[in-house]
Amino acid sequence: MKSGLLCAAITAVSCAWAAPAVIEPGAVWLDTQGRPINAHGGGLLHDRGIYYWYGEVKQGRTYLPKVNQAWGGTRVIAGGISCYSSADLGAWKNEGIVLPSVADDPDHDLACENVIERPKVIYNARTKKFVMWFHQDSPNYAAARSGVAVSDLPTGPFTYVGSFRPNAGKRPLNGTERNVADGSNEALVRDLSGGQMARDMTLFADDDGKAYHFYASEDNQTMHVSELSDDYLQPAGRYARIFVGRFMEAPAVFKRGGKYYLIASGCTGWEPNAARSAVADNILGPWTELGNPCRGAGAELTFSGQSTYVLPIAGQPGRFVAIFDQWNKWDLEDSRYVWLPLTLDNDGQPLIEWQSRWTLSPGR
Ligand code: DGJ
Repeated sequence: MKSGLLCAAITAVSCAWAAPAVIEPGAVWLDTQGRPINAHGGGLLHDRGIYYWYGEVKQGRTYLPKVNQAWGGTRVIAGGISCYSSADLGAWKNEGIVLPSVADDPDHDLACENVIERPKVIYNARTKKFVMWFHQDSPNYAAARSGVAVSDLPTGPFTYVGSFRPNAGKRPLNGTERNVADGSNEALVRDLSGGQMARDMTLFADDDGKAYHFYASEDNQTMHVSELSDDYLQPAGRYARIFVGRFMEAPAVFKRGGKYYLIASGCTGWEPNAARSAVADNILGPWTELGNPCRGAGAELTFSGQSTYVLPIAGQPGRFVAIFDQWNKWDLEDSRYVWLPLTLDNDGQPLIEWQSRWTLSPGR
């Protein structure tokens, strides 16, 4: 439902000081022009007092592709990557499509028949560039590649650099030999020379300037965490296999008290499943699973959502927002957003509780 009373879902009263945003998970969220926000599988960036929200543009008719999909089900034509900006996390200005798809060249990586998903943007202080990574794929999700684009400004336009399968010719820091015997790393070994499969992904920029790419690899069976080069444009060649054989998707990573935390999903296409969480002292592992972080009614199916990002609130250490997509597989354009507070209990367990309406102050 795009119309009706539910439309006024995310609002902020504009004053000299930033009023808290009112968040209604799962309702239609409108931008400052009154149009539904179209930024799915997204990620946020905080830069000089402004939050930027990047996401997949899902527009038009949802269809079942004729190609035999490795993963997926329904599709829309890829609309590129959108950007919205906000000072208060409530009033979102549409900054337009910052990386468009390509309509007239089916062989282009960004062809609208292809898959462009889960964009994440981080800032590189050395090069002074905003660097975007996303999941680039063929219509049947078989290519499983990483796309990279750069911009001088957070609002783009982003220049497409290219796509690749990460870590071609590189062996992981862990797991190669040990798992050969039981076949659990068959896909890893198969892809050692050509590069590892990379589907659902996120980026994490650490406080020491290093950045990492988490991606669902090895036919989605196992996740990889891969250090990026100093300019963040390619893998540095050091990567580890994590959650071996656990079929995790939708990774979102944050850091608190020197520990790294991950929220993710299982692997069930657009259908929701129980969220996962994990913790590590070293970002390259080992990671320890902590179970489903969601609590309350609907927790067993992640409130019908799938993780995409965890936002640290600027200037408010320890305050995080867990961000999920609520996919509508029969009308992907009408997929919704679920933002909920994320806390860590005294044992370091991430907790996310359902709230149908809550207020969020943006920090500084
Ligand atoms: C689940 C993934 O998390 C989404 O990003 C998308 O690729 C769908 N699968 C496609 O079915």
